Amino acid sequence: MKVYFDNAATTAVDEEVVKVMAQVLRENYGNPSSIHAQGRKARATIEEARKTVANALNASIGEIFFTSCGTESNNMALKCSVRDLGVERIISSKIEHHAITHTLDSIQKEKEVEVTFVKLDRFGRADLDHLESLLQSSNKKTLVSLIHANNEIGTINDIKSIGEICHAYSALFHTDTVQTMGYYPIDLSQMKVNFLSASAHKFHGPKGCGFIYINGENIIKPYLDGGSQERNMRGGTENIAGIAGLAKALEVSYAHLAERREKITSLRQLMKSELENHFPNIEFNGDIDGESHYKVLSAAFDNADLLLMNLDIAGIAASGGSACSSGVDVGSHVLAQLTPDSMKTTVRFSFSYYNSEEEVHYVIDKLKEILLS
Ligand SMILES: Cc1ncc(COP(=O)(O)O)c(C=O)c1O
Repeated sequence: MKVYFDNAATTAVDEEVVKVMAQVLRENYGNPSSIHAQGRKARATIEEARKTVANALNASIGEIFFTSCGTESNNMALKCSVRDLGVERIISSKIEHHAITHTLDSIQKEKEVEVTFVKLDRFGRADLDHLESLLQSSNKKTLVSLIHANNEIGTINDIKSIGEICHAYSALFHTDTVQTMGYYPIDLSQMKVNFLSASAHKFHGPKGCGFIYINGENIIKPYLDGGSQERNMRGGTENIAGIAGLAKALEVSYAHLAERREKITSLRQLMKSELENHFPNIEFNGDIDGESHYKVLSAAFDNADLLLMNLDIAGIAASGGSACSSGVDVGSHVLAQLTPDSMKTTVRFSFSYYNSEEEVHYVIDKLKEILLS
């Protein structure tokens, strides 16, 4: 049996998405910047996709820009706010995805920008009182960048409240919703968000396509210079199939959100209780019974060297900390912050609606074989 429990790393592409993309690749190959009929057809496909995304988030179509991935969107939000909006200080956290932490490092190498980190509780959630006191403490133009759900442990930040605090202190707010887009309703008309990043491959869309929401009030210049694509915001001929696939994946995710959420939540609960039954010393990272992404279960085992490798041999795909560094075992910067003294081995199991209870039982049986025999 093959089991894919690594859906926070990436997801299988929905069949409906494959169909839409195949059709675009076959029949809709014009350059959207061309003025002939094939070009206009391609342009119309992109604008239709933009409308789908904007409608899903209650945003204006002029606020959605397609990018190549979540990483690009994060880079763009942070680097362009510094370059174009006079941001002199960024408040973030030490457990953001590397697409934020490494971007902060590179900004600091090039510019005089102060970077401050908000305190976190034991689950990795941003301390909003501390955020407020940091905002109060300086008049520098500030951008706050905080993740919606942490990709390694699932802890969810209250982005609505964070947006309101930022707004009260005239700070800009960027949030990385790469893990939550398509899994939680996000109504941007009800939130004070200036920038938001998302990526299609996390919600059953294709790799190589993401988007950034830029609130209409924030006028930044392109991150990628070139032609006048994406309303002059991103040079480069558009990935039409990817964009159409992203929009379809988002539409399908939101249409089936409730039933998928229920299924995934119950698989995660089953996995958690089975782990507790068979591994009495198991611990879970993050706010497991509180506000936590329903697809992520970060479990810490005793004496579990080579566990991921043995799971792989048994046909089971899961991750250590974050899959984005897989192949390069540098340890998890998230766990290093939250559980620095732990000697346990963490495995992140992450689920999708394609998974089944049978798969959970198979994984538990294999874990028992690997760790208890
Ligand atoms: C929270 C978060 N942000 C950003 C990214 C990067 O997204 P992409 O793979 O589309 O560049 C990831 C991918 O794992 C992620 O989990």
